[in-house]
Amino acid sequence: MPAAKPRLLFLLSGSIACYKACHAISRLTQAGIEVRTVATPAALRFVGGATLEGLTGSPVFSDVWTEGRAMDHINLARWADLALVCPATANTLNRLAAGLADDPIGALFLAWEIQQKPWWVAPAMNHAMLAHPATQASLARLRPMGVRVLDAGNGALACGETGEGRLIEPEALVAQVLVELGPRIARQV
Ligand SMILES: Cc1cc2nc3c(=O)[nH]c(=O)nc-3n(C[C@H](O)[C@H](O)[C@H](O)COP(=O)(O)O)c2cc1C
Repeated sequence: MPAAKPRLLFLLSGSIACYKACHAISRLTQAGIEVRTVATPAALRFVGGATLEGLTGSPVFSDVWTEGRAMDHINLARWADLALVCPATANTLNRLAAGLADDPIGALFLAWEIQQKPWWVAPAMNHAMLAHPATQASLARLRPMGVRVLDAGNGALACGETGEGRLIEPEALVAQVLVELGPRIARQV
């Protein structure tokens, strides 16, 4: 029987950078990682559930009240080896830092055994939103909880302004995930 693939829980919040996240998901599945997706309602206004299901082969989890998926806010937290919020909006970062659990990402974050398994966030937003004291306070609160904050890029932003806040480029993101999960892939061979 073949060994289980490494498991990545890929959580998308509502940024224009969701299209870059889809590219990363495609590359990660090709690299031999089993990916399941979670998306906020705002994320699903940027990319369709059919795209995420097509890329991963599994339906997207976007509503804790979905019939047949009543305990997925716990089950997916137990299933995955690594969780990655990408793109992580200002709103979702602030909600995670506050410990709110009234949406799938927040509920999964609280159900995640953060001392045992890594939880990463990849911020993507306008430079002023990233620099805002509310966002910075949330990042400062999340780090000592054990959350790894991936560096945002500096450059042209979708809004037409320039500064820090670009989502990490998909190639760099994929490389970091493979470093984390690579040993598990190697063990399958
Ligand atoms: C076109 C467009 C692009 C957006 N891009 C971002 C973004 O890159 N980062 C961000 O934090 N918010 C962005 N927003 C705002 C979020 O979508 C909004 O705050 C939303 O409530 C986030 O919800 P969520 O965190 O539950 O996904 C954007 C909104 C629009 C309409």
